[in-house]
Amino acid sequence: MSINGIKRINFNKFSDERGNICFLERGKNISFDIKRIYYIYDIPSGKTRGEHAHKELEQVFIALNGSFKLTLDDGYNKESFILNDPSMGLYIPKMLWRTVDDFSANCICMVLASEIYKADDYYHDYNEFIKDVKKRNEQ
Ligand code: TYD
Repeated sequence: MSINGIKRINFNKFSDERGNICFLERGKNISFDIKRIYYIYDIPSGKTRGEHAHKELEQVFIALNGSFKLTLDDGYNKESFILNDPSMGLYIPKMLWRTVDDFSANCICMVLASEIYKADDYYHDYNEFIKDVKKRNEQ
């Protein structure tokens, strides 16, 4: 991975003739206390979501159904991931600008978050994000 801190997580999967079940458990495959879960669905074709960064929030993105593309930008490098497997998650640390697009029909994108919703944890302005990336790197 060209961006530090991102981790692909392969969830424990139990499969039998009844289908598959995956387990997400704090301390086993999720490194933070999950304080919030949200999911996006019924996304019209061609739409883009995200386009923000977080000051402190850590997240795990999972394609529960269908697929989408997650592009991450740490202010220096960009990397894109296609998520299309409900038994896999992508851990995203703080301070990454994210863009989510290329949603398939019937996509369900679920996100586990380390904090409750806080509007002041967001950067909505890319230039402000970049300014703070550089500032943090100088410290
Ligand atoms: P938004 O940040 O635009 O979604 P995305 O990250 O997919 O681009 O969120 C849409 C609205 O929902 C916005 O008004 C904030 C609100 N919201 C909450 O109230 N709680 C939450 O946990 C989230 C993720 C969003």
